[in-house]
Amino acid sequence: QIVYLNGAFMPIEEARIPVLDRGFIFGDGVYELIPVYSRHPFRLQEHLRRLSTSLSSLRIPNLYDSAAWSRHVEELVKRNEAEDQSIYIQVTRGPAPRDHAFPAHVEPTVFMMSNPLITPPASLVESGAVAISSQDIRWDHCDIKAISLLPNVLLRQMAVDEGAVETILFRDGMLTEGAASNIFAVDKGVILAPPKDQHMLPGITYDVILELAESEGIPVDIGYFPEARIRSADELWMTSSTKEILPIVRLDNTPIANGLPGPIFKRMYKAYQLYKN
Ligand code: PDD
Repeated sequence: QIVYLNGAFMPIEEARIPVLDRGFIFGDGVYELIPVYSRHPFRLQEHLRRLSTSLSSLRIPNLYDSAAWSRHVEELVKRNEAEDQSIYIQVTRGPAPRDHAFPAHVEPTVFMMSNPLITPPASLVESGAVAISSQDIRWDHCDIKAISLLPNVLLRQMAVDEGAVETILFRDGMLTEGAASNIFAVDKGVILAPPKDQHMLPGITYDVILELAESEGIPVDIGYFPEARIRSADELWMTSSTKEILPIVRLDNTPIANGLPGPIFKRMYKAYQLYKN
């Protein structure tokens, strides 16, 4: 496994960062996860644009322009074996003596690794997945792809402990997203999606889904949806760069509609599989 660290490619065993890196001490950094299909990074420019937005939100300088980022990502893909990869990019504020406020002189740490991309198996797509729900206990800047993911980690573990794949979050009674995914519902043939505000991550897959819905001629309603409307929906889906689009057929031990993946899911899944290749 070859990784990229601060300008150089090396085996992962050789990659070292200082213990005073603010990513380690404060979780002071951002990340991206880019799926690669048949050695081709999916929606690379969109991921790089979101990375740039996350960096400027935290006032961390972006060391590379999109052409340089693209070259480094493509080189990393080339140096790793799998045809389908997930590229993880992490940029932290860098190493500095511990002080909460930003240090005056600091160089960001740039790290990238590639892992084989593991998408949900066909059996799970066919049967549908199980989810639980929770209050959204996160902060007010969920639109930043920050590496400080403690609430997300705890919320996802809650799902795993219950034998579920995801925890669906409600803030003030309204759907936001999942612990590590965006959530869509379907009600009477209309796709319901929360708006891209500060309470959710603007998913790259979310955008793909809205584009595909438009080309499939399926209406979309973007808004704030109360918990009861989500629980009584005809379909529920989660989307992310690694889960793609996955149907959720039970929520907190209650079936969604008849407890089977719905017809609009099946259309969107097919459209997504065609689109990604
Ligand atoms: N997570 N919301 C949250 C909180 C996420 O962590 C993710 C993705 C998404 C979906 O975004 P996208 O479609 O751009 O992958 C939404 C990644 C996969 C992760 O943390 O591994």
